[in-house]
Amino acid sequence: MRVELTVNGEKRQADDVWEGESLLYVLRERLGLPGSKNACEQGECGSCSIYLDGVVVCACLVAAGQAQDRDVVTVEGLADGETLDPVQQAFLDAGAVQCGFCTPGLVVAVHDLLARVPQPDEETVREALAGNLCRCTGYEAILDAVRLAAERA
Ligand code: FES
Ligand code: FES
Repeated sequence: MRVELTVNGEKRQADDVWEGESLLYVLRERLGLPGSKNACEQGECGSCSIYLDGVVVCACLVAAGQAQDRDVVTVEGLADGETLDPVQQAFLDAGAVQCGFCTPGLVVAVHDLLARVPQPDEETVREALAGNLCRCTGYEAILDAVRLAAERA
């Protein structure tokens, strides 16, 4: 089947999509957007987090067909050309990126959190990021990145 959707502000389409294919697969393998990562493919790790009609979801759990005519924003869509989104910049500046596999999903989750709660307390941050697993950093640097992004907002 053909799936037509808006991705990062552009109309896109994917052909020959099969019934069980995930939106994550379409984004990564058909539309050339590998930012969203595929770590578990079961909705457990958050590495594939994207916005779907403004709501953060795990793209691995969304059937591609469900994205028909909908609006997707991926981690690639947060930057403004060569200028990183403040959350992306804060992750770099705080050294919150090691292997980087969790980073795109965390950036999307933090972007969403700060849009809703510009100055979150630590409990709110931890709760908001509970669905995003990182096996490298021990999370402290990630919390530093959130604080930095919130301070700069
Ligand atoms: S790859 Fe989607 S939640 Fe892990
Ligand atoms: S930086 Fe490696 S999983 Fe988070």
